[in-house]
Amino acid sequence: MIEKIKETAAFISQQTDEMPKTAIILGTGLGDLVNHIDVVKEIAYADIPNFPVSTVAGHSGKLIFGHLGGKYILAMQGRFHYYEGYDMKEVTFPVRVFKAIGVETLFVSNAAGGMNKEFSVGDVMVITDHINLFPENPLRGKNYEELGPRFPAMTEAYSREFVAMADDIAKEDGIRLMHGVYVGTPGPTFETPAEYEYFRVIGGDAVGMSTVPEVIVANHAGMRVFGVSVITDLGGKDITEVPSHEEVQQAAVKAQPVMTHIIKKMLERI
Ligand code: HPA
Repeated sequence: MIEKIKETAAFISQQTDEMPKTAIILGTGLGDLVNHIDVVKEIAYADIPNFPVSTVAGHSGKLIFGHLGGKYILAMQGRFHYYEGYDMKEVTFPVRVFKAIGVETLFVSNAAGGMNKEFSVGDVMVITDHINLFPENPLRGKNYEELGPRFPAMTEAYSREFVAMADDIAKEDGIRLMHGVYVGTPGPTFETPAEYEYFRVIGGDAVGMSTVPEVIVANHAGMRVFGVSVITDLGGKDITEVPSHEEVQQAAVKAQPVMTHIIKKMLERI
């Protein structure tokens, strides 16, 4: 794994002169952010050695280097999901590579189903914490000390400073910004009403099929993390609406200007 990370990092380093300190992983239907980037270089996943190739409709699969909010950043358009069949090491491989090229801060976004009864479709939620319900932890197996500690703390998996910064921005700009705990599940099924209820009872506010693996690895690697969910559907024991991938994408597309605004302003301040 170490060799693969080094090889891929070396390849990426050859592609552009400057290496970013911040990487942004864009979730389902949330790719519009890249249209705001002053692009310097794009690299298709298919051209990157050791990179898995994304298979899901709505994920186009490339790394984009450029300027956003006055910062030189790297955006990952399309991520690797566990439900596609990738193992946890593959899902999180890009984060390892980002660290190896010098990235210190990771922004993650996703579409998620809301269980919190205060939430509405289209709400944007800052992730304050998560619950890992994937069947495996990406750090399972041999630990490479050069990548991080055997038993990393997850007490502040999502930087409190970033949460406060997002709150300030929301307050200044009159944005309704929710806080919540993201429950990460393997998917690909959406939840039964009883499962949404269960996730709410155990302390979750939103549920999705991504993010948790990448955030675990980012913490292992000592990166600071900011996470944001767009609430694309609601679930619970009294909710009978049936979510679909198309609906999730449409709701994400509609809410993404708010998310883009917050991320851009965050970048200006970090
Ligand atoms: N459940 C799981 N993943 C999701 C959902 C959901 O309701 N909405 C968007 N991603």
